[in-house]
Amino acid sequence: MKKEAVQLAQDPTAESASAGPGTTGEPAGASRREFLQKGISVAGWGALSIGIGAGSYQTVRFFFPSVVFHPPSVFQIGRVEDFLSTEAPDPHGVISVDSRFKPELRFFVVREPGRIYSLYARCTHLGCTVNWFPGLRIFKCPCHGSEFHSDGREFAGPAPRPLDRLMISLDSEDNILVDTRVVLTAREFEKKKAYIDLA
Ligand code: FES
Repeated sequence: MKKEAVQLAQDPTAESASAGPGTTGEPAGASRREFLQKGISVAGWGALSIGIGAGSYQTVRFFFPSVVFHPPSVFQIGRVEDFLSTEAPDPHGVISVDSRFKPELRFFVVREPGRIYSLYARCTHLGCTVNWFPGLRIFKCPCHGSEFHSDGREFAGPAPRPLDRLMISLDSEDNILVDTRVVLTAREFEKKKAYIDLA
């Protein structure tokens, strides 16, 4: 009796083998049915788990969308002398609007007699990229028709406020830097003097 118990403990398959057909008298068909039922049950739980997993993944994606890591956001765009101009200011006090940086970096560089600053090319209505029309000396938004003067102030369409500005500064070697992470409203820009003072 003792010997038999030791053998069972050593061989976990012994019990099922001894309970198999031919030893207990259970018909072979019943065992197959049992096996199939277990298989179906395992497959069912597997499918359910996959379904729940996929649903959870979609939920997480919804609340935590993929984060895109941008490259460094401070750009060196030249020196003050690169933005000099002999033109007279327009009625809004702007001498020139440089749109070279708009396609890739999404900002303009504006020159006034006493300062240089950067206008963010994002419309203050719903965020479309505005375009500069040098002949008309205005910025226009292609989405819902907002229009802005050369200094970024809105005057037509649904845009609720002037174009925002980006922090601009000079480094120790007098190169102009634009920091696209620091977006300021026109009011903040004036308060923080976020421009290069040429006075
Ligand atoms: S996004 Fe520019 S007018 Fe609507």
